[in-house]
Amino acid sequence: MIEITASSLSDTHQTAESVAEITKSGDLILLVGDLGAGKTAFTQGFGVSLGVKEAITSPTFTLARTYQGTLEIHHLDVYRIDQIEEVRDLALPELFEGNSVTLIEWGDQILSALPKDHLEISFEYGEADSARLITITANGSSWNSRMPDLIQKLEIKGLSKC
Ligand SMILES: Nc1ncnc2c1ncn2[C@@H]1O[C@H](COP(=O)(O)OP(=O)(O)OP(=O)(O)O)[C@@H](O)[C@H]1O
Ligand SMILES: [Mg+2]
Repeated sequence: MIEITASSLSDTHQTAESVAEITKSGDLILLVGDLGAGKTAFTQGFGVSLGVKEAITSPTFTLARTYQGTLEIHHLDVYRIDQIEEVRDLALPELFEGNSVTLIEWGDQILSALPKDHLEISFEYGEADSARLITITANGSSWNSRMPDLIQKLEIKGLSKC
């Protein structure tokens, strides 16, 4: 587990850049945290780092959007899903195929329908308006093996960890 104190939006974007640098095709990243905690902001930084040129916007009403960067980025927001059965409509297995990475806001709500191997990134509000505590948890051997590299990248940027 890695903990980062992001004192600004820029710190969150820098964290996203580090995660993007260790991301591989087929990866799944769950973004967890309250409304306005920074899940979409993280995805925006992540997309820029992978060369997405268009603006990444919240997919709350559309459920899913796809962007083209050096990898294809599927960005989902499952906040409005209240029945786990509705997850079938998202055609998740197809999303995980191809040269793509999938980020799911509120992904913890549909955990039972998701692959066990994933990176979980949670966002909590800090004391100052622009402060967030970001916690990164690796699930599965592939993500676990990449954690030392991620820690190093975050350290270089001066983002705290433990
Ligand atoms: N350190 C920070 N990290 C992320 N966002 C920050 C930070 N400081 C301020 N913000 C602001 O907080 C807001 C985060 O909104 P964002 O849409 O990313 O939240 P969200 O978690 O996706 O919410 P929702 O559940 O409604 O989709 C933005 O307005 C952003 O500018
Ligand atoms: Mg959002």
